[in-house]
Amino acid sequence: MSKSPPRIALISGSTRTASMNKSLVNAMAHIFKDAGAKCVKIDLSRYDMPIYNGDWEATNGVPKAAKNLVKRLKSCDGVFIATPEYNGCLPPLLKNTIDWTTRIELGQFSGPVYGIGSATPGGLSGIMVLRQLHFILNRLGATTVPRQLGVGFAGKAFDIKGKFIEGRTQNYAKTLADQMLAEISRRQK
Ligand SMILES: Cc1cc2nc3c(=O)[nH]c(=O)nc-3n(C[C@H](O)[C@H](O)[C@H](O)COP(=O)(O)O)c2cc1C
Repeated sequence: MSKSPPRIALISGSTRTASMNKSLVNAMAHIFKDAGAKCVKIDLSRYDMPIYNGDWEATNGVPKAAKNLVKRLKSCDGVFIATPEYNGCLPPLLKNTIDWTTRIELGQFSGPVYGIGSATPGGLSGIMVLRQLHFILNRLGATTVPRQLGVGFAGKAFDIKGKFIEGRTQNYAKTLADQMLAEISRRQK
């Protein structure tokens, strides 16, 4: 019997129309698809949540969007997150989304295998935010693969088909995807 393909969720920490991190998600989706995975793009603008506040939670409970997101993530074998870097840190949208989901459970982190990347207009490729996102995910029980993908000068990193232009970036991206798929396969044995 043939095994069903691994399901990979792809999330951009920016919902901006022309987001570079959305472009990074799209380029990674090409790579995962070529490797035989099923891609599930998660658009955070469809998971609207207020900024976390304990009083709001006490009155209203956890937003339905957070519950839906947890369910969706738990249905996936892997999760790739592309995060912008804001003042060396995670953007509030991504941090707030992560924080709300932790008010439900942590299975969305310990279940799937995680990969992380960042696209920036400058040359530093999000090295500071990658460190932080790695720390947070591991703190919450996630396994993140060793290869991270920082894409600097991201305005010139993608071709019209949405694929990586530079061979070296493509190779790093492929290594990241391969590491995620290998860990998923190892867990399924
Ligand atoms: C508040 C703010 C802070 C930023 N800080 C950084 C930063 O620390 N490092 C960096 O490389 N880019 C920084 N940028 C530029 C972002 O990388 C750039 O806006 C990028 O396009 C955001 O990601 P997106 O294209 O996916 O929306 C910052 C942008 C904003 C709005």
